[in-house]
Amino acid sequence: MTNMTRRTLLIGSLGAASALTVGGLAAYGWSTSAVGPAVGSASEAVRTAEATRRATDQRVVTARLTPRVSTIDLGGQSVQTWAYGESVPGPLLRARAGDLLRVSVENALPAETSVHWHGIALRNDMDGVPGITQSPIGAGAAFTYEFTAPDPGTYFYHPHSGVQLDRGLHGVLVIDDPQEPGGYDDEWIVVLDDWIDGTGTTPDEVLKKLQASGAQSGGGMGGMGGMGGMEASMQSPLLGGAGDIVYPHYLVNGRIAANPVTLSGKPGQRVRVRFVNAGSDTAFRVALGGHQMTITHSDGYPVQPAVTDALIIGMGERFDVIVTLADGAFPLVASAEGKNGQGLAVVRTSPGAAAPAAGSTPAELNGRVLLGTDLVVGAPARLPDRAVDTTHDLVLGGSMAGYQWTLNGKRFPDTAPLEVRQGQRVRLRFQNRTMMFHPMHVHGHTFALTAGGARKDTVIVRPMQQVEVDFQADNPGQWATHCHNIYHAEAGMMTTISYRA
Ligand code: C2O
Ligand code: CU
Repeated sequence: MTNMTRRTLLIGSLGAASALTVGGLAAYGWSTSAVGPAVGSASEAVRTAEATRRATDQRVVTARLTPRVSTIDLGGQSVQTWAYGESVPGPLLRARAGDLLRVSVENALPAETSVHWHGIALRNDMDGVPGITQSPIGAGAAFTYEFTAPDPGTYFYHPHSGVQLDRGLHGVLVIDDPQEPGGYDDEWIVVLDDWIDGTGTTPDEVLKKLQASGAQSGGGMGGMGGMGGMEASMQSPLLGGAGDIVYPHYLVNGRIAANPVTLSGKPGQRVRVRFVNAGSDTAFRVALGGHQMTITHSDGYPVQPAVTDALIIGMGERFDVIVTLADGAFPLVASAEGKNGQGLAVVRTSPGAAAPAAGSTPAELNGRVLLGTDLVVGAPARLPDRAVDTTHDLVLGGSMAGYQWTLNGKRFPDTAPLEVRQGQRVRLRFQNRTMMFHPMHVHGHTFALTAGGARKDTVIVRPMQQVEVDFQADNPGQWATHCHNIYHAEAGMMTTISYRA
């Protein structure tokens, strides 16, 4: 049975039970007033919203992605995986704010796929979520995504099909700001990833094992389950349960630490580093030995500059930082938070300096450490003050019986959609009732953390913590909302923000 059929049946069966459940639904923030039908992905409202984004002299940026089976060299270690061509990460896509992106996807995989444009406030029918916004792109089939990218920032793209993100299927999408004052000499893109595909297993097999071991041991609650043979408890003082999977490799720009990429510059240069965590089950703690970093953007949007030694980046989060380069060769370390392992890149401004070792642990890793929830919004990104029209609670839970992750006690597609109307100011209250962190992601919108926090589309909710975010319901359609631990999402921790007429 497909998800769609199952949901239709579910909605059909609600009728009889509704008299009993209205109170319960209200407790989850459901409006009990009458609501209209769902605003569909192919509706007039979606086309109208897109039309307002389109300038008459709009530039068109075209690209082609060919997801396929590929053999990739991770730096002395070859793996067979699924990738967008010959490299991991896939091709860098780049456009200016306001451009029209036209990306044709030719699916050469032996499976259905899709491409989601993570963080972009785009037209709903191009959001790339099979079962919600489009049909899957079948093996051997093609699909062209065409949408305006309205807001500058650091984004990425990946499939929204099963656990395909944990293969090599991801790439960075940078939307440049024509108004950007600059103030830096160079730019580096740094993609972090946890890697297991082609090392004797696949992400699909990993998920099966998690489900099997969880069924016996109640694993997944605080990262106690996990893979057979796992010894580490995967706990982090900052994040609690820090993951379910022990990965053999942690990558920076597609390379294992034993054979790192080199990022070159000159002493005294100011470099903008765009960090993207494309991992599936790993938060990374990043630090550059001998340097401090000034965080300038979170998930594409400006924050008040914050100086730090280290930064925690959850799955799906992006941060831009500025560093002023010292003289020498320095380890840029992405330590897998709460796990044993790290990715590495070498920052080199002096040809003669000795390269840092693969296992380098610069003191900055344990200096001042910031998370996205510590940041303050930058003035241009502030959400205008307004009263909240509707509040939805999202209780993040996990079941002891198997590897099951829930929102408001249900697993997708049985989760209740979060209903909103266009024009509303919406508050989401993420309440984590598990002993593990969850990076919660909302499609099609950038929310504001309450009390002046950062604008973001993905936010880490720590164990037993609550995080409140507000957004303006200005992008009609049906929007996936889920944990960006891709195994949690696949095991049920997903719902939709559902615009209603
Ligand atoms: Cu990058 Cu639905 O997510
Ligand atoms: Cu999660």
